Amino acid sequence: MAGRIPREFIDDLIARTDIVDLVDSRVKLKKAGKNYQACCPFHNEKSPSFTVSQDKQFYHCFGCGAHGNAISFMMEYDRLEFPEAVEELARFHGLDVPREQGGTPAPSASQRAQKEDDYALLEQVARFFAQQLKTHPQRDKAIDYLKGRGLSGEIVKTFEIGYAPPEWDGVLKTFGTTPQRQQQLLDLKVITENDNRRRYDFFRDRIMFPIRDKRGRVIGFGGRVLDDGGPKYLNSPETRVFHKGSELYGYYHVRQHNRSVERVLIVEGYMDVVALGQYDIHYAVASLGTATTPEHVQMLFRTAPEIVCCYDGDRAGREAAWRALENALPYLKDGVQMRFLFLPDGEDPDTQIRQVGKEGFENSLDQAIPLSRFFFESLLKKHTLSSAEGKAALKAQAIPLIEKIQGDHQRAILEEELSKLLGEHSQYQLQQGLKQAQQMGRYRASDSGRPAKSTLSPVRMMIRLLLDQPSLAAEHPQVDPRSLMGMSVAGLDVLNDVHQICLANPRYTSANILEHFRDHPHINSLTKLLASDSQYRGAKTLEHALGDKGTLYRDSFAKLVNWLLQGRMEELLGKSRVGQLSPEEKQELNLLMREQK
Ligand code: UTP
Ligand code: MN
Repeated sequence: MAGRIPREFIDDLIARTDIVDLVDSRVKLKKAGKNYQACCPFHNEKSPSFTVSQDKQFYHCFGCGAHGNAISFMMEYDRLEFPEAVEELARFHGLDVPREQGGTPAPSASQRAQKEDDYALLEQVARFFAQQLKTHPQRDKAIDYLKGRGLSGEIVKTFEIGYAPPEWDGVLKTFGTTPQRQQQLLDLKVITENDNRRRYDFFRDRIMFPIRDKRGRVIGFGGRVLDDGGPKYLNSPETRVFHKGSELYGYYHVRQHNRSVERVLIVEGYMDVVALGQYDIHYAVASLGTATTPEHVQMLFRTAPEIVCCYDGDRAGREAAWRALENALPYLKDGVQMRFLFLPDGEDPDTQIRQVGKEGFENSLDQAIPLSRFFFESLLKKHTLSSAEGKAALKAQAIPLIEKIQGDHQRAILEEELSKLLGEHSQYQLQQGLKQAQQMGRYRASDSGRPAKSTLSPVRMMIRLLLDQPSLAAEHPQVDPRSLMGMSVAGLDVLNDVHQICLANPRYTSANILEHFRDHPHINSLTKLLASDSQYRGAKTLEHALGDKGTLYRDSFAKLVNWLLQGRMEELLGKSRVGQLSPEEKQELNLLMREQK
């Protein structure tokens, strides 16, 4: 792992970037009042609900809820990981990304040049294999094989399928022209070396599938034998450019072929991806002989809101599906879904689509079972509901899994389902009811202190104001939420974190603050709060609806303090009525009573 990118650099990058220019370079924006608008690039819509705010350096879609700062936009729109998005933005500004000490050091200029050269070489090797399919004296048996598998010339070209000649030195002779080149071929595992240090081609007499990474660079190969003897597939081992757990065969094709993707299909084999492509289904990917990893799931949910896992219906297939499910739980946000399609025994998508065609296959996709059903079906195969012990065991296995789910709504669905199965349904409802009643109580308690026209509690109002105008923290030193630490108020910890950051960085924009909370549990509540302008969509501006920010900020804090003191006083008074106050508590109560006047 490369060292961390320093926080100051990220802050600087956000400060240099104008999100309006950035978004506009990819999605044409139109000025609308103070903000800019467009049809949302992250979901299909006819009228624009995607809004970019220049002063907050923040985008938000009122339709699908997508939101974030410049870095998030790069990640979502260009499907990049965080460091890649930072790299891209830095490149745009002509900057080098510095890395902190620790971890493995950042790739040096020469390492980077090496990688570029690796990609170039692998690209050439891929072309070489494709060329062999056209020119090698023994090409006919490869072509016959592909024809026998029902592949059209066109699809072979689309997926750049090639042929590794049945020789020991096809690649070696063509590319290993210097000792350095040979070493590079060896490092990239396209040639190999035996105990006598004799070097020869790694792939021989095989149908070749080049594997491209997210950005379209060739990083490795899968090679299939022409007859069915020996191990069927040989795949490139891990190398400095090839990491199986974070790559998917066909992913680049999916991204190239579709502007926006509604659904991605995970299948098991190279041939499945290719056959589906031939039948005009361009949204399938295959993991590279590994299980579906958390990285895969994360990458695919960034691409599409729905993943369908398509496996053989046998035991191995169901086990693979269960592993995919387990790895998906932490990424199940509200608004995304994973479903499962089990094919009849011995079938795979390749054979299936040839039998039922595109429409038939897509119909079966529509019938794929939801995650919740597969979840309980699998668990109920292991645990019985007919005994108390069985129920307890079910509960013990289900609860830790359900708790991993990110989306509140998604989690609630599974919790409710579990309660139903356990016959605890009424109890569950009761709990939900209680939770709600508590929340209402909390709102009512702060009701008297609520600023006019707003639906926000004082804590949330203060966070909202700080996000809007971080300089408030430094401008009003008398407002110090740290003094309330330890009191039980919902959101006080978030308020404190935000306040600290604002205090230290009065010149921050909203986008900078949010950046501090990327991957932090608070991020969702913060972005929701920042986007809560929607409540004021009627009013011309938020300021218009709320009045002066400084006054509002101080008032909200005063109300919060009052409300807390009031609560503490009532608690102490209650205790004193039954005569249980310690001397310190008596003193505190006196103080509070005095303050109250
Ligand atoms: P399959 O046997 O389902 O592959 O294995 P397939 O693509 O359907 O192959 P055909 O139809 O027989 O040509 C699924 C995947 O598992 C990996 C490959 O990635 C393959 O695509 N695999 C399979 C191997 O790595 N090695 C093997 O020997 C077999
Ligand atoms: Mn197959």
